Amino acid sequence: MKLIGKTAWITGASSGIGQATARLLAAEGADLVISARREERLQQLAQELRALGRQVCIAPADVANRQAMQQVGELIAAQGGVDILINNAGTMPISPIINGRVDEWEQMIDTNIKGVLYAINAVYPGMAERKQGHIVNISSIAARQTYPSAGVYAGTKHAVRAISETLRKEAIRYGVRVTDVQPGAVATELPDSIVHDKIRAAVKENMYAAEMPNLQAEDIANGILYAVTQPAHVDVSELLIRPMMQE
Ligand SMILES: NC(=O)c1ccc[n+]([C@@H]2O[C@H](COP(=O)([O-])OP(=O)(O)OC[C@H]3O[C@@H](n4cnc5c(N)ncnc54)[C@H](OP(=O)(O)O)[C@@H]3O)[C@@H](O)[C@H]2O)c1
Repeated sequence: MKLIGKTAWITGASSGIGQATARLLAAEGADLVISARREERLQQLAQELRALGRQVCIAPADVANRQAMQQVGELIAAQGGVDILINNAGTMPISPIINGRVDEWEQMIDTNIKGVLYAINAVYPGMAERKQGHIVNISSIAARQTYPSAGVYAGTKHAVRAISETLRKEAIRYGVRVTDVQPGAVATELPDSIVHDKIRAAVKENMYAAEMPNLQAEDIANGILYAVTQPAHVDVSELLIRPMMQE
């Protein structure tokens, strides 16, 4: 087991990539702080992981709520801090920009950009003080490419990638490593967050099509485990992981 004695905070741990990563890191010996809005799912996951002998702290929070995220940061600091942050919570209610669905733009910007920054801010000071830590931001292949309807989502993920790279450079001298993980299509609940009916149907039909076998959440969790278990002199700065058939 590679993570005995380490504690990781995972946002968006109630489903998909976050949940799979919680399971894998716990299997490798890590204790966990798990966050999301659906508290019952966190309770179930905590029960499962505690049965492995791990310590699991549930910290339900909306990542877009600055005050709530500050409170999670204070809770974590009071418990001695975390070694690893998996900054994973995200949402994808995509639609054409020309449709002007401003509420959905704001939801993506608040969750995918501000939420990522609030989580960094909640743990970075403690990591810098202890001169060790690892922040893993989950951006997307959409941090490198975009297509009609994905403009605002891709904008948020380009922002996460830029934030990751900037933080990496700033945090080097404080012993804090930063990794930006860029998944391609992964079979999770993410397309259910698309509110625009036609776009949701099109995404489910095309992007998650039978001829392009998707990644599973566990495939991304394996990449994350690789990044967080390298020797101290190694920084895995970016990981782009896509389905074999995704261009
Ligand atoms: N699936 C893909 O193809 C894909 C590709 C590239 C990147 N990604 C990225 O991977 C990350 C995880 O997504 P996923 O694919 O695993 O999708 P998912 O199954 O829908 O998981 C999203 C997670 O984020 C949490 N979340 C969403 N909004 C939140 C908020 N405001 N506050 C707190 N938690 C929130 C959800 O929990 P609650 O609803 O319980 O709060 C859930 O646990 C996201 O950042 C996504 O953009 C996914």
